[in-house]
Amino acid sequence: MCGIVGAVAKSDVLPMLLDGLKRLEYRGYDSAGVAVIDQNKKLSRIRSAGKIVELEKALSSSAAMRGTTGIAHTRWATHGPPTEINAHPHISGHNLALVCNGIIENHEALRKAQQANGIQFASDTDTEVIVNEIQQHIQNGLDLLAAVKATLAVLEGAYAIGVVSADEPNRLVGARRGSPLVVGIGDGESFIASDMSALISVTRDFFILENGDIVDINGGNISIIDQCGRPQYRDKKRSGLSADAVELGDHRHYMIKEIHEQSVAIATALEGRITATRLLEACFGIDSNEIFDKTKSVQIIACGTSYHAGMVARHWFEEYGVPCQAEIGSEFHSRSHVVPEDCLVVTLSQSGETIDTLAALAAAKQAGYAHCLTICNVPESSLVRESDLVLMTHAGAEIGVASTKAFTTQLTALRLLVIALGRRFSMTITDEARLIKELRELPSKVDQAMTLEPTIKEIAEQFADKQHALFLGRGAHYPIALEGALKLKEISYIHAEAYPAGELKHGPLALVDNEMPVISVAPNDRLLKKLKGNIEEVRARGGKLIVFADPSAEISAQENLQVINVAPVDSSIAPIIYTIPLQLLAYHVGLIKGTDVDKPRNLAKSVTVE
Ligand code: G6P
Repeated sequence: MCGIVGAVAKSDVLPMLLDGLKRLEYRGYDSAGVAVIDQNKKLSRIRSAGKIVELEKALSSSAAMRGTTGIAHTRWATHGPPTEINAHPHISGHNLALVCNGIIENHEALRKAQQANGIQFASDTDTEVIVNEIQQHIQNGLDLLAAVKATLAVLEGAYAIGVVSADEPNRLVGARRGSPLVVGIGDGESFIASDMSALISVTRDFFILENGDIVDINGGNISIIDQCGRPQYRDKKRSGLSADAVELGDHRHYMIKEIHEQSVAIATALEGRITATRLLEACFGIDSNEIFDKTKSVQIIACGTSYHAGMVARHWFEEYGVPCQAEIGSEFHSRSHVVPEDCLVVTLSQSGETIDTLAALAAAKQAGYAHCLTICNVPESSLVRESDLVLMTHAGAEIGVASTKAFTTQLTALRLLVIALGRRFSMTITDEARLIKELRELPSKVDQAMTLEPTIKEIAEQFADKQHALFLGRGAHYPIALEGALKLKEISYIHAEAYPAGELKHGPLALVDNEMPVISVAPNDRLLKKLKGNIEEVRARGGKLIVFADPSAEISAQENLQVINVAPVDSSIAPIIYTIPLQLLAYHVGLIKGTDVDKPRNLAKSVTVE
């Protein structure tokens, strides 16, 4: 994980590096640092534990950092606690500074060898071996680029790096193996960063590095080479991101901004992809027809919130006879596979860079799965580049670490995929027309669900002193309960678990008392009767229930049972609608608890380590 930014600029580089770091803070925020080379070829570095605001404080109480070449880093700790000494950039000697995102798997062996050469280590990180290794090559007469190339040859792991040397003050070398790195093209100046959003205030033009690429920046000159020094040509890409899209505007947090953006995001995800009654299958790309015709089953792979979207979709696919499994990326890539014939692997990911999802896709390809499709929010991401078919969610930049609009747009995109494949199984034209009609009404129904916010704010007060919460759902709403519990624990640090309501009696009922809130989603679907029975089981044991229910579900408020009516919706879109109140609940409980809602402790938005 972690975020990297670097530049060889025409003016003082520090403000731009800090701006880039803030835009990358979603990738990790337990410590941060910056290193700059000044006109006199002097390298200075400032680091601090904590978020970037702490780094800013450290910078304001130090001598001004001037210089046009620099690198910066925001960290999500893997090796070594989040202290100042472990913060990047790491330096070697007086001249060399390096930032890294990723993990060096053979760092122990390299550390031992370097220690045997008399090198002393200043941190507990795996990164420090890289900068030491480069330094050794420089001392043996290599220039910065050659020293980086020689070092990459001995590193094992997945990483992206940026490195500067005070001896070559207008130069910045970057490299990418497994972790993302983009090159920003300026006017006589050049930049690197973990993603485009970090550089959006300085450029819109980018080269997206491929795995194995090394970039050598000398002022405005950019050359991309492979490890043997062979030139690599990469197409220039223009970013569609606008600087405003990643601004907070009038909102207090990105999370609430993004919750409220959902109706627009969903409308954008549907735009140009459906008519009044039909799906326009071309939205999946030119090869989709042939691949879909062959597909006999679906294997969904995803992590975190995206996995919950996959779990919902499994119900949707199987309703129309499409065999479907959903599995967490880290589990999928670390087991053996019996590969079903003509199975389409569908990866779901907001970032397109989650290493476990990428590793699972690689494992699926190696095992012989037929084809792969990704539903993703970041156009230039690794998953998009490595998939046969792509459906972008068009959610727009999602900055809050707790995923919200990325989830509901994934579900919307999955509904389209269910139609595309369902047509080839048991879905009729009438079914399709009904599903499309519901999708067209989805944005306004999302807005309607948003009107529950004042009620949810009041309910959130009840969580102020709670330690635990239980979420219940059935069928396609069990993953929604999981998502509600995940949001609450991420944002409020309240221990929250979700159970399929029918499983309560096999253990969790033992936890029920009048202290722990039990939250249930109760749309009026074919499982409602059974769910009502489960709600009674909780009430009979003195549990305190909060139920989000369809008015026609006939669940009435009673002692220890609060009912919040959710406007009636068709079961095909109910999981999307019932997600909204659970997101709002987590957000308002987080506010009451006073947590850092957009940057919950210990987490990061883009998880690029296994
Ligand atoms: C992290 C984020 C989650 C996200 C998960 C998968 O854990 O905090 O919000 O759901 O990664 O990320 P992806 O980008 O693959 O959807």
